[in-house]
Amino acid sequence: MSLKYKPTVTRRAFVASSLAGVMSTTLPFPGAAEAATQRFSLRAAQGRTRLVPEPHPDTAAWCYNGKVPGPEIRIRQGERLQVEVTNDLAEETTVHWHGIRLPNAMDGVPHLTQVPIAPGDKFVYEFDAVDAGTFWYHPHQRSFEQIGRGLYGALIVEEKEPPRVDREVTWILDDWRLTESAAISDDFGDLGDMSHGGRLGNTVTVNGNVADTFSVKSGERIRIRLINTANARIFALNFEGHAPRIIALDGQPVEPHAPQDGLVLLGPAMRVDLILDCTAAPNAKAQVVDRAYQDSPYRILDLAYDETALRDAPPDWPMSLTPNPLPEPDLAAASRHEVVFTGGMMGQMVERQMGLSGSNRMMGGGMMGMQGKSPGIWFVNGVAAEERVSDPFLTLARDTSHILELTNATAFAHPIHLHGHSFRVISRNGVPTEHQEWQDTVFMSVAERVEIAFVADNPGDWMFHCHIAEHMAAGMMGVIRVT
Ligand code: C2O
Ligand code: CU
Repeated sequence: MSLKYKPTVTRRAFVASSLAGVMSTTLPFPGAAEAATQRFSLRAAQGRTRLVPEPHPDTAAWCYNGKVPGPEIRIRQGERLQVEVTNDLAEETTVHWHGIRLPNAMDGVPHLTQVPIAPGDKFVYEFDAVDAGTFWYHPHQRSFEQIGRGLYGALIVEEKEPPRVDREVTWILDDWRLTESAAISDDFGDLGDMSHGGRLGNTVTVNGNVADTFSVKSGERIRIRLINTANARIFALNFEGHAPRIIALDGQPVEPHAPQDGLVLLGPAMRVDLILDCTAAPNAKAQVVDRAYQDSPYRILDLAYDETALRDAPPDWPMSLTPNPLPEPDLAAASRHEVVFTGGMMGQMVERQMGLSGSNRMMGGGMMGMQGKSPGIWFVNGVAAEERVSDPFLTLARDTSHILELTNATAFAHPIHLHGHSFRVISRNGVPTEHQEWQDTVFMSVAERVEIAFVADNPGDWMFHCHIAEHMAAGMMGVIRVT
């Protein structure tokens, strides 16, 4: 019997093409079946970098691949990322993938999710990029010094269909405490910094340099991915004369909107994706100014028009991003948990004002030493945890919904970060938030109460901590177990 239709492909090619068909049903991204794993390598080591322009000297820093910031890792949603990390520092380190929803073993928290990478050793991180967005990576070992000396970089996961723009840029903002000779001041772990607003510096850099001018064209539409990698500085950016719209917070899409009071607020570790339409008058002196939360305002850079105008009016291209596949919390069925932050300078005053009587405080560690002991300055539900904390203060059943009622009973603002999940910020001081935004790091003002909601769908032990590195090192952290 002869075949009516003679196959025109070989058996081997047939197997390959049917497999591609199967792959494309699980990974809805064209090309993903071929380029599924993207490989990068990072080497942490001492190096030198130019933070401030000549004639100042360059600066001894800790670098990934010899640079500050480290290389931008850029992949597409649905791809798998594999990063081999080599530790050529004189101390242990890890890499944490901030904001990424990944398996617990890849989260990079020393003693909790992995053995820290010893000097001279390597560790391979590998996970799927389920969410598109602006993320970043940094050590989770003695973060206040390792990040503070320059170990960080951007991790960009591109959308399947990015919004149309003329140009896209990543701006990593950092804040350094430099000496007269442009050296990084050695006073990491200073008790005054720890008990106040953290290590504030005197030099702000954009992508590792003191910035001067960023040239734009009149009418140009630019996507700016802002990442705050500073230990402690809270930025409140004003794009004078131009029209910025926020399209994503912490990598997660939000309904495009103008920043409240014209200020783009970025606490440590937070990210904002902006669409910036360059609408200032052609001869206007436009600048990016930090209206500075903790300080007096100062200019970060000029937005200078170059000769050519692109168009007279902003384009009408859509700005909205496609939402990521996040599980929607069931608010009616959610269990509620109170989390109260206390401690720090002048904290008791705020506790009294908020009607909280001296919470029962315990110290998790002794005084600061380099072995991961914390001084007990900040408290989460009365406990100051040390860096090696491993007992959970909350245990949540997997795939159930939870609302955390956060109370900042301190005299300082705190960006509070949860690992392994994104959560919706559902209310502030009892008032529902306008955008019900998804975040992984929620900014809390002094004496503020914030409710966040999420589905605990990712099993494992997850850090929950303030991202002001000095607060984290001084007790303001804890572990949430999802089981
Ligand atoms: Cu960006 Cu626990 O970290
Ligand atoms: Cu804090």
